Amino acid sequence: MKTVSTIADLKQAIKEIKTEGKTIAFVPTMGNLHSGHLSLVHKGNEVADVVVASIFVNPTQFGENEDLSNYPRTLEEDKKKLISEGCNLLFTPEKSDMYPKPDLAVTQVKHMSTLHCGASRPNHFNGVTTIVMKLFNLVQPDFGIFGLKDFQQFTILKTMVKDMFMPVEMIGVDTGRAEDGLAHSSRNNYLTAEEREIAPTLYQVICETKEKIISGKHSFANLIRDAKKQLADAGMTPDYFAICRQIDLNPATENDMDLVVLAAAYLGKARLIDNTHFSR
Ligand code: PAJ
Repeated sequence: MKTVSTIADLKQAIKEIKTEGKTIAFVPTMGNLHSGHLSLVHKGNEVADVVVASIFVNPTQFGENEDLSNYPRTLEEDKKKLISEGCNLLFTPEKSDMYPKPDLAVTQVKHMSTLHCGASRPNHFNGVTTIVMKLFNLVQPDFGIFGLKDFQQFTILKTMVKDMFMPVEMIGVDTGRAEDGLAHSSRNNYLTAEEREIAPTLYQVICETKEKIISGKHSFANLIRDAKKQLADAGMTPDYFAICRQIDLNPATENDMDLVVLAAAYLGKARLIDNTHFSR
């Protein structure tokens, strides 16, 4: 695996790949890689000739009181994991290269970026769309590979690509989980042993809600109220719990068929998110 840190070196490496007529799958990350991230690299290898990954802890998607300075940075371990999964090229840019001053341009997907996680993390998704737009323009991938764990992020990025006619095929990969159902996440590192026992409740409650919808319980307001109570009873502080349309993440009505249950909850120092999507 080749590692490049400057934009000039990345452009040169991409030019060589394109000259050889090879297709590129791109896996953007913020590092501290776990098996969920590596499943994206695996998918990239299935669909394209070359897999390019990036590691960049993107400052513009962190709020003022969020964990930017404490975000785990584990580059050497990450490189070994990427090599073992067959990643071909790694881009590790500097902040000053990704955001040269004056820094005026922003990419935004309206409305959707203000819902759910966007409501409690204002500007978060504008940071995500801006950095992914910049990275896509540099890497010029044929495929963008993202985790469905961040379902709202994936939906927003798909909307950006579609509305901007960007020539990238977006691929969502199923969430990697521990045996007890907890989604792999860098934020799980913040959990104490006791909290780690409680944490799988989030996905359990999401799945129970899905089953109730499928079995015909249609009062979504009641399902949401019950789910929040279950999370609170388990010792979590629910941020949001929503039953939405997959297409635009607006609240689902009884007539919508393609649904996603999205939730976020605080547990100790961690803010956990998870979801399940299904059709009925
Ligand atoms: P990060 O949190 O590092 O995640 C990188 C990619 O890994 C995202 O597509 C995310 O959805 C995916 N991912 C995380 N946990 C996963 C799991 N358990 N199973 C499957 N995929 C998982 O998401 C970001 O970084 C950033 O917002 C980024 C897109 C890189 C822009 O800065």
